[in-house]
This record gives sequence, structure tokens and C-alpha cells, in this order.
Amino acid sequence: MHNPAFDSRDSGAHTDWRLRLALAGTALAVVVVVLGAFTRLADAGLGCPDWPGCYGHLTWPDEHHEIETANAAFPHAPVETDKTWPEMVHRYFAGALLLLVGGLTVLAWRRRGHRAFKQTHFLLALILLQAAFGMWTVTLKLWPQVVTAHLLGGMATLSMLWLMVERLRNAPPSKGRFIPAHEYRLLQKIRPLAFAATGAVVLQIALGGWTSSNYAALACADFPTCHGEWWPQTDFRQGFNIAQQIGPNYLGGTLESDARTAIHVAHRLGALLVSILVLALAAFAWRAGSHRWAAGLAGVLLLQVSLGIANVVMFLPLPIAVAHNAGAAVLLLGLLTFCYRIQTAQPRVSNRDGIPEKPGVDNTALAGTL
Ligand code: HEM
Repeated sequence: MHNPAFDSRDSGAHTDWRLRLALAGTALAVVVVVLGAFTRLADAGLGCPDWPGCYGHLTWPDEHHEIETANAAFPHAPVETDKTWPEMVHRYFAGALLLLVGGLTVLAWRRRGHRAFKQTHFLLALILLQAAFGMWTVTLKLWPQVVTAHLLGGMATLSMLWLMVERLRNAPPSKGRFIPAHEYRLLQKIRPLAFAATGAVVLQIALGGWTSSNYAALACADFPTCHGEWWPQTDFRQGFNIAQQIGPNYLGGTLESDARTAIHVAHRLGALLVSILVLALAAFAWRAGSHRWAAGLAGVLLLQVSLGIANVVMFLPLPIAVAHNAGAAVLLLGLLTFCYRIQTAQPRVSNRDGIPEKPGVDNTALAGTL
């Protein structure tokens, strides 16, 4: 039977190398995304007012005389030592990721014309774009549009690397994932729901980035109500005015209280939609027999919602805010993996009693789970 993840030009050693690099890239992308969140949430996004150096240094100024020189060169942005290093460590890890994806691109040249060749080049272009967004984050002084796009770009980079790992793990000599035919049929039916839930999580991540970059996290300090009301006073037009001017320093936010409330409320409503879709998906997956997937997705969702609520009621402790960002990444990767596996799974050509469904075909040995 044809395995859609199979490409006849995949040689074992070549695939192994790409798999290793893609795995290392995924791990590095997790570090870069989490470090990026730490930098943003610790208000260290402008820790270095220049780019790509930091006050003209390859690392950051930490000797007394270096700090004095830096302060003289950048009088509008005096050095804050607890904000320089997160920014530079994030930049160096991002640089290492760029090199690693460069390595993957070189390996992809052996497969010119194949889909993987285009995907790897797309990934390289995405990381270069991310570097530009990183620069604009600084030069446009935390303009929320750029900060949110940078967050989304980071999640997209991580997702692409992880899907590459999934695809390579499913490549020969792996025989692909064969699942019982009845389970296959049920899972195909929930495919649209799985895609909808994934799309909703992407939107929710964008809303989260908008909440964070407009400093709307504490616009509602109570939960589930906001200012003690179920529907507080909001200004959605200002809150979602994506033509906010470039120019002012956005550190700390510039929006009025009602506009920030609108953003915060939208993120809560987004969480409600995500919860409904993911829980429905988990229920259907359970019915289809994918119990581990159902429990895993519901568990990650529960954890993510709890971290979000903890952010509000505990007044945004930094570790919880960073964990909430990581939770969003795990939820997204979980859903993407589930979608990918539904998409590439194949029905086992035998029923539960091991009797071939098609006369003359016996692949009962190809047991597997999603
Ligand atoms: C249901 C799934 C959810 C997802 C996928 C999600 C995702 C995100 C993301 C990606 C961010 C941006 C973090 C960053 O800047 O690094 C964020 C921020 C935030 N989220 Fe959520 N969220 C969810 C649910 C919730 C819930 C239920 C609440 C609580 C009511 C909540 C409250 C917040 C707050 C207060 C922030 C701003 C954090 C800050 O500025 O430091 N989230 N969310």
C-alpha cells in the first residue's frame, strides 16, 4: 500500500541526518520561543536599543566603564543590566537556529524538485523574516503589530520543524501508521473539527500576543468576571485598531483602559471557543478509540486554561506568564501532530479478528496506533 509520507529518493543515512537536525532544530526552537517570551514578559524587549549588537557590544556591557560609555552613547536608553542579557541570549540562540536550518537547507539540495526542498527553503525564509521582525521589535519600539507577528512567526517556525520531524519519522524504513479500519473511518470524520480547533488555537495565540504586547494582561484583575461585571465597559474599536501609529515607545502600552479591557475580554472569549472545540475533538477522538490522544489534548488544554487564569488572579507572576506561552506552544504542536497523523494514517486491511478484509491480502502484522 502507498505510504504518503514515503519518498523513493529517501536513503536511510540521509533521512537519519535530516531527522537528527530537525530534532535538534525543534529543541532549539522551543528554547528560542520560551526565551523570547521571557524577554518580552520581563519587559526586556528594549534591553538593547540597537541591533544586532547590544550598545555596540557583541555580548552586552557589564563592566563599569563599558556601562558608562554605553550610557553616554545612548542617553535616552540607559543600561539596565537585568534586561540586556535576556535580549542577547535570545538573539544568540535564534542565530544558532538560523545556522542549523541553513544546514538542513544544504542537505535538502540533494532532493531538488521534491516538496521537502521547497519546505526547507520556506523555513529558512521564515527564520530570516523572524530576524527582521526581531530587529523591527527594537527599532519600532515594541510596536504591538510587530511583537505579535514575531510571536506568531516563532510558533510557525517551531511548528514547521516539528512537522518535519514527524514526516521524517514516518519515512522509510518505517512502514507508516496502520490503524484499524473502523478507527480510521471515525477519525476521517473528525478531521474538519481537528483543523478547526488548530485554526482557533492559532487565532488565540495571536490574541494572546496582542494582549501581551498591549499590556492588557491586568485590564481585568478578577475571574470569571471583569471589574466585577460579566460584560464590562469595553472599546473594541481602539483595542483592535491595527493601524496604531509607529513612533511612540510601546513599553508599558499606550491604550486607554476600555481598549485594554476589550482585548483582555476577547482573549477570554477566544479561550472559551478553543475549549469548546478542543474538548469536542477530545470526546470524538475518545469514541474513535484514540484514548491517549483524547486524554492528552484535554489535559494540555486544562493546564493552559489554568495557567491563563493563574496569570490573572495572581497578578502575572513571570514564571506563570512564561509557562502560559510554553503551554500555547505545546497545545499547538499537539493539535498539529494529531491533524498530521489523521491525515497520513492508513487503514489496516484486516478487521479486529485478524481476518483480511480484502481476499488475498494479509497485512495483519502491520499493527500500529495513531
Ligand atoms: C485556551 C487556550 C489559551 C491559549 C492558547 C493562550 C495563549 C496565549 C498566548 C500565546 C499569550 C501570549 C504570551 C506571550 O506574550 O508570550 C497569552 C497571553 C495571555 N493569556 Fe492566554 N491563552 C489561553 C487561555 C487563556 C485564559 C483562559 C486566560 C485567562 C482568563 C488567559 C490569560 C492570558 C493573559 C492575562 C495573557 C497576557 C500575559 C502577559 O502579558 O504577560 N489565557 N495567552
